[in-house]
Amino acid sequence: IEKQDVRVPKQRLLVVANRLPVSAIRKDDDSWGLEISVGGLVSALLGINEFEARWIGWAGVNVPDEVGQRSLTKALAEKRCIPVFLDEEIVHQYYNGYCNNILWPLFHYLGLPQEDRLATTRSFQSQFAAYKEANQMFADVVNAHYREGDVVWCHDYHLMFLPKCLKDYNRKMKVGWFLHTPFPSSEIHRTLPSRSELLRSVLAADLVGFHTYDYARHFVSACTRILGLEGTPDGVEDQGKLTRVAAFPIGIDSERFIRALELDVVKAHMKQLKERFAGRKVMLGVDRLDMIKGIPQKILAFEKFLEENPVWRDKVVLVQIAVPTRTDVPEYQKLSSQVHEIVGRINGRFGSLTAVPIHHLVRTYALKVLGYDRSLEFHELCALYAVTDVALVTSLRDGMNLVSYEFVACQASKKGVLILSEFAGAAQSLGAGAILVNPWNITEVASSIGYALTMPADEREKRHRHNFTHVSTHTSQEWAETFVSELNDTVVEAQLRIRQ
Ligand code: G6P
Repeated sequence: IEKQDVRVPKQRLLVVANRLPVSAIRKDDDSWGLEISVGGLVSALLGINEFEARWIGWAGVNVPDEVGQRSLTKALAEKRCIPVFLDEEIVHQYYNGYCNNILWPLFHYLGLPQEDRLATTRSFQSQFAAYKEANQMFADVVNAHYREGDVVWCHDYHLMFLPKCLKDYNRKMKVGWFLHTPFPSSEIHRTLPSRSELLRSVLAADLVGFHTYDYARHFVSACTRILGLEGTPDGVEDQGKLTRVAAFPIGIDSERFIRALELDVVKAHMKQLKERFAGRKVMLGVDRLDMIKGIPQKILAFEKFLEENPVWRDKVVLVQIAVPTRTDVPEYQKLSSQVHEIVGRINGRFGSLTAVPIHHLVRTYALKVLGYDRSLEFHELCALYAVTDVALVTSLRDGMNLVSYEFVACQASKKGVLILSEFAGAAQSLGAGAILVNPWNITEVASSIGYALTMPADEREKRHRHNFTHVSTHTSQEWAETFVSELNDTVVEAQLRIRQ
């Protein structure tokens, strides 16, 4: 007798993010090369078995022709990805412009662009129009694939207008929105010309999530102060309709890092690195080449440390991996030359014929490691994390910063020290184990470097244990499952409230 299949179909989860978890490359014969990413959000969602997830987003390439669009859609379907096609002009205005030149710096407390106020105002308006247009394009694709009962999870500052567009299509759609950056103080948010419209669109979601309680609190304050709405312990209320607001700190797939350290290939990389840096302590920074990461400040602090501690000059090396990002935005181009200049000066000052103090590696491939990795680079990165004595994560602001988590996951045997910015979301979870610093205070960072390099083993052990426990228990998978089940519950509770 054949057993009857009594499995209940899984709930479908539509994950909508600006970038798809695969990057597409068009080959000479017009076929598509796809590289799956396994970092951050992707590994969080790959790990959840409760839902049947599909991704909707931009594939990062311009595909002007219909034939190309059709063939890419087909190729992506095999990876459960659905593309949103954005033309070059929209990418310029929406992605480079409104997202990366306006919202990104503002949310990280770097303010609005100021060089030429009039020009900024004019371009600001057209960029905001493009932002809304792009969000509507995402909404059209979601709506075309939506089936009753699906959960729609929108991600990040690129898609703040999306919850409203989706609810305009269908009030019954379950919509969650999660911000991966900080949400700044309401005093910062209120400088944004489109402040109210953006807040109202986000509030159309059923559940709004942030990495930390502080970001959630800032969002609620912005809604009360700017929109005059009522903030409650559960969220924001507007004429009897509650938008639930809460903190959901993201984590990493720590097991993946821990397992990798057992692989022969990783052990071989570690051996090579140890030989290469024999007799020197290794300090490590891994950052996207972004203003918010505080790379120049970090390197200047290292310079100050070498200046004040001549005995360390040939006993320590800083490996700084910088990952080029958003290279079409002028601010990012300026930063890149600035970092090269400072590194060159310091290596000229303190280097010798046989050793340089800073290994500054600009690695596009590391982008693959951080967000879109291929296994070889992932293995190299794990080895680097494992041989490091002191990691420097000194972002000026950072939503969470998972490099700090990855470092901790790879330090089970070395028990190295983490120097961590108090302005990274991770400071709230790893603060007790790390040395917390104000990245703007170069003197403080320099003296923390000295402290970290000489920290006694029992203190390192204690600090590491605290952080490792956190990183290995608060995983990305748990983060994703908590958010989605909370979203389901929120919708059920709202329905009950209406019936009462
Ligand atoms: C941050 C954002 C992500 C973004 C990533 C890479 O982590 O929160 O949404 O995908 O940076 O930036 P990019 O502009 O290359 O997508």
